[in-house]
Amino acid sequence: MNTIPVITLDGPAASGKGTVAELVARELGFHYLDSGALYRIATLAALKAGVDPADSEGLTAVAEKLSPVFENGRILLEGEDVTLAIRSEEVSRATSKVAVVPGVRRALFDLQRRAARAPGLVADGRDMGTVVFPEAPLKVFLTASARVRAERRYKQLTARGETADLDLLTKDLEERDRRDRERAEAPLKPAADARLLDTTEMGIEEAVKKVLDWWTTAR
Ligand code: CDP
Ligand code: CDP
Repeated sequence: MNTIPVITLDGPAASGKGTVAELVARELGFHYLDSGALYRIATLAALKAGVDPADSEGLTAVAEKLSPVFENGRILLEGEDVTLAIRSEEVSRATSKVAVVPGVRRALFDLQRRAARAPGLVADGRDMGTVVFPEAPLKVFLTASARVRAERRYKQLTARGETADLDLLTKDLEERDRRDRERAEAPLKPAADARLLDTTEMGIEEAVKKVLDWWTTAR
């Protein structure tokens, strides 16, 4: 374990983890790890390679070979810009199935640990506080009602020009959360020492301030 300061933000889909994590990281001058992006990239790579979603060994082999490039806010996979492609609902759904495979999680573990570099890291995902950075001095678990989260995701998708149906989106999101919560390996759950942050009726600024306030007393 290293001594780089790490703040973990875990929680269900569209609870605000990524937005809050990026702003907290910017405020503190820390690095930012979007661990969900790694699972999404592995999934897209497997889809492109035509690996059967039930083939755990095939999925693990894809994750072990993964070498995405993060460049000026863009994500390149074997030279192709996949920044938008990994955010589609199709990839979201498939990702939560790929993420149950222990070999895939093992393959991505080191990539995630290597993101902890000076002066510090803010990491968001599902198991940042429980599995990947259990030594983090501040762990936050974000929540929000399923309806509010689906509405947030709906706005994100339609702003990108994707068509979306709010009821279907709510169903998809609840199903993905259930799969993430119920899997045997690294399920979505708050770490025993996590602070809970319900953002159902909370704006982004307030959520960021809360995390920064906690950080000042966490060390
Ligand atoms: O990373 P995660 O899936 O948890 O959520 P996100 O992508 O950070 O947030 C989903 C959307 O909700 C973004 O468009 C945020 O701007 C928005 N959001 C919000 O309106 N209020 C919050 N308190 C948090 C996020
Ligand atoms: O942005 P959103 O919260 O919708 O999803 P994400 O954080 O990009 O994660 C996509 C999927 O990857 C999740 O539904 C999980 O199945 C998986 N994931 C995971 O298993 N462990 C993580 N640390 C991060 C994501």
